[in-house]
Amino acid sequence: MDKKGNGPDKYAPIGVFDSGVGGLTVAREIMRQIPDEKIIYFGDTARVPYGSKSKETITRYSRQIVRFLRKQNVKAIVVACNTASAYALDEIEKETDIPMIGVVKPGAKVASEATRNGKIGVIGTEGTIASQIYARYIKELKPQVNVIGKACPLFVPLVEEGLLKDPVTDEIAKRYLSELIDIDIDTLILGCTHYPLIRSTVGRVMGERVTLVNPAYETARELKEMLAKENLLNDSSPKLGDNMYQFFVSDTAEKFKRFANSIIKYGILTAKTINIEEY
Ligand code: DGL
Repeated sequence: MDKKGNGPDKYAPIGVFDSGVGGLTVAREIMRQIPDEKIIYFGDTARVPYGSKSKETITRYSRQIVRFLRKQNVKAIVVACNTASAYALDEIEKETDIPMIGVVKPGAKVASEATRNGKIGVIGTEGTIASQIYARYIKELKPQVNVIGKACPLFVPLVEEGLLKDPVTDEIAKRYLSELIDIDIDTLILGCTHYPLIRSTVGRVMGERVTLVNPAYETARELKEMLAKENLLNDSSPKLGDNMYQFFVSDTAEKFKRFANSIIKYGILTAKTINIEEY
């Protein structure tokens, strides 16, 4: 709330959460596209992965994280995790009094605009693909489009092992993506936080004709529009260091920091461990 108690304060940070490190691809886009915004990031490193868990579990976890972020007085919340956006966003959004945005809708919108032959592929975790959420949103916009989902569970550990450019990742990508190539999709949504980090591998396997859609990028763009519309853009140009970016995790802060520093160029100085079960 602002000082007069009139809704969210535009100088407050944005809350961003994910099951772990993957959501940093979304945080990174927010840092690039709206550099004056402060961010409080929470990575649920104790309970990752979300991709293989049930809707009920993901909704409970997401609710706890939203409570934690609300305690930090964030002005808006970005659900950076595709699986949490697929399973929990609809419900938790109704329970929250500040603007919330997930990564699925922005990705779906751009993919529906990008396709020329009406065949869109989506890759993601088992949960995201089983939820068919991308297909639902795309068909709301363009009912005649064909959406083909493919779960690629091995991509997450490969990225977390740092095998971003590696023959093993190439081989797995070829196996996962061959059926999407056979179906002749012309647009592919990178429907998991980790996949933008292996974009070049996926792009090479799919070939030049296929447009890759990165929901992290589209989400940062829509977030900016949403904040502007709600008069919540921070116009004060805060400085780096000024508690600009704060990172919280539920476990293994050091490991988180190492990964974070490998993908975000500005040095992440601290990541604090909290007990999320308390929220
Ligand atoms: N962040 C998850 C997602 O985007 C991937 C990792 C996980 O399974 O938790 O769906």
